[in-house]
Amino acid sequence: MGSVGELNDCSPQHHKWWKNGTVYQIYPASFKDSNDDGIGDIPGITSKLDYITSLGVDIVWVCPMFDSPQIDMGYDVSNYEKVYPPYGTVEDMQTLIDECHSRNMRIILDLVVNHTSDQHEWFKESRSSKSNPKRDWYIWRPAKYDDQGHRVPPNNWRAMFTGSAWTWDEHTQEYYLHLFASEQPDLNWESSECRKAIYESAMEFWLRKGVDGFRIDCVNMYSKGDLNDAPITEPDRDTQNAGLVWCNGPRMDEYLDEMNAVLSKYDAMSVGECPFTPDTDKVISYVSAANKRLNMVFQFDVVEVGSSHASKFESKPAEDWLLDFQAAVTRTQQLISGTDAWTTAFTENHDWSRSISRFGSDKPEFRVAAGKMLALMLSTLSGTLFIYQGQELGMVNAPLSWPIEEYKDLDAASYYSQVFRNTNGDPTALAEAKDAIQFIARDNARTPMQWNSNTNAGFSNAKPWMRVHDNFHELNAELEEKDERSVLAFWKMMLRLRKVHADLFIHGDFEPLGKPNTKTFTYSKSWEGQSALIMLNFTSEAQPLEMLSGFGKVELLISTADDVGNNLAPFEGRIYLAASRPHL
Ligand code: GLC
Ligand code: CA
Repeated sequence: MGSVGELNDCSPQHHKWWKNGTVYQIYPASFKDSNDDGIGDIPGITSKLDYITSLGVDIVWVCPMFDSPQIDMGYDVSNYEKVYPPYGTVEDMQTLIDECHSRNMRIILDLVVNHTSDQHEWFKESRSSKSNPKRDWYIWRPAKYDDQGHRVPPNNWRAMFTGSAWTWDEHTQEYYLHLFASEQPDLNWESSECRKAIYESAMEFWLRKGVDGFRIDCVNMYSKGDLNDAPITEPDRDTQNAGLVWCNGPRMDEYLDEMNAVLSKYDAMSVGECPFTPDTDKVISYVSAANKRLNMVFQFDVVEVGSSHASKFESKPAEDWLLDFQAAVTRTQQLISGTDAWTTAFTENHDWSRSISRFGSDKPEFRVAAGKMLALMLSTLSGTLFIYQGQELGMVNAPLSWPIEEYKDLDAASYYSQVFRNTNGDPTALAEAKDAIQFIARDNARTPMQWNSNTNAGFSNAKPWMRVHDNFHELNAELEEKDERSVLAFWKMMLRLRKVHADLFIHGDFEPLGKPNTKTFTYSKSWEGQSALIMLNFTSEAQPLEMLSGFGKVELLISTADDVGNNLAPFEGRIYLAASRPHL
C-alpha cells in the first residue's frame, strides 16, 4: 500500500503538496456505474482513474461512500467502517486508494461527523433509553411548553432543509437535535467518549488504509454553544434561521486541535466546510498555519452569490450580481495576503448548480466560451483549486423542460412541497418554484457524468438513478478528448499553466483592478517582481479592452478565444504577463 511519504511531491517548490495540488471531486452515485444497476460505484471510479490523471489533477476527493440509508445521499452515515453496498466494499476502497497512489495521486474522503444517520448503531443505542451509556452522544433536551400548555421544541432553530431542528422522540419523551434532516441527528461533541469514537471510527479507520486526508463536512458546527434561541428575523414563522448561532461555538478550537493531532500523525490534509462565518478573522483563526487547526476551508462567499441564506430558492439573480461576485472572489483571495492562512478556489460542488449556468451562459452559442472563461479564472486564483466532476467538460444545469419528478434531492423536494402546501398547489407558484429549482438546486450537479454518446452517456447500461442530461450527444468526454478546442482541452491546458506559473497563480497576491462593473472582471496576480493581468468578459457582447497603463510592456499568455482581437469577445478571458511588478 502506498503511503504519502513514497509519493512524489506534486509541488515544484517548497510548498506543501496540498497547496499546489488540484483536487478533483467525485460524486460516487453519478460518476460511473461498473455493474449496470444504474448507480455509480467505487470500481467505476477506479476504472476512470486514467481519465482523471489525464486532466492533470493531483488529489481525488470522493464524496461519502459509507454505508447509509441515503436520505441525504450518504451525508447520513450509518456505519463509517463499511461501504454502502451498491457502491462496493472496503476492499474496493482499498483498491481505489492504492490505484490512486500508484498514479502519484492522493485521495481524500468526506468526513461527516457533525451528525450520523438515525440508523447508526450509536443513535439506536442513544435513543433506546435515557440511561443508555450513549445517551449523551447525541443532543437530547426536554420539551418546553407554550402559554396554552402545548409542547414546543427547546429552541426556535430551523433545520437546514426545513422545519424545526428538533424531533420529538415518543419512546424517551425528549427532543433530539438535527441541524439537517430529522434522520440526521447531531452528535454531541461535548462528550469526550463520543469524540474518541469519532476519531477512531470515522478518521483513523481510513487513515490507516492510506487515505491522505479529509474534506470535513460542516466543520464549524460541532460546538453549538448554549443552544440559545436565534434572533427573530421572520416574526410570522415558528422557526428562525439560526446558522450564525449554531456555528463557531466556544469549544471549536479545542475540537479542531484534537482532530489535527490525529491528522498530523499521517501528514493528512484537511479542508473544512465553513458556512455562516462572515468574520474574516474567525476564518483566519481556523486556517492560520501557526494555529495548526485546518489546512484550509471552503468559504461560501462565491457560491452563495445570487442566493440568500434565508431562502436559497426564493432569491432571484440580481442584475448586478457580478459586483457581488467580484467582491466575494476578492474577499476569499485576500485571506492569504499578508497572513499565514491558506485559501481555496472553487465555483462548483455537489451542493450548487453548474457554474456555467449560474455565472456564464448555458445557451448553446456561449456555453463553450463561458466554460473556458470560468476555467481561466479559477486556474489563476490563489489557494488549492477544486474542480467538480463534469465541470471540466462544461456540464450545465438540467434543461428547463424537465418535470419536477426528475429532481431527486430532499432539499428541492422539501422546498417544492412547502410551496405546494402554502399555495394549495397554485400552478403559477409551482411553476415559479420549479424554475428556481432548475436554477439553483443541488440536483443540477448530480446528473450522471457524460462519458460518450452511447446509451445513457456511457454512464450505465441500466436506467440511471437520475436522468442523464439531454445534451450528452454534443457534450461528453469522448468527443471533447478529440477536440482541441473543447472545454476539456482548455481545462487541461490551464491546469498545466497553473503549475508552470505556480508562484503567480497558486500563491500570488490578488488585486482587483479598475472600477467594479457589471460586465467585466479584471485583476492582477503578483509574486516577487512578476505579475499577471487577467481580464474576463462576463457578458454575451464584446467589451472594450482597457489595458492598464501601469503594467508597461505585457505579453499575451493565453486567451480563451480562437482569434484575439482588440475587444474582449463574448465571454472571453485573457491572461497577460507583465515583465515587472506594475505601479498602479
Ligand atoms: C454538507 C454537504 C451536504 C449535506 C450537508 C449535511 O453541507 O455538503 O451535501 O447535505 O452537509 O451533511
Ligand atoms: Ca453500480
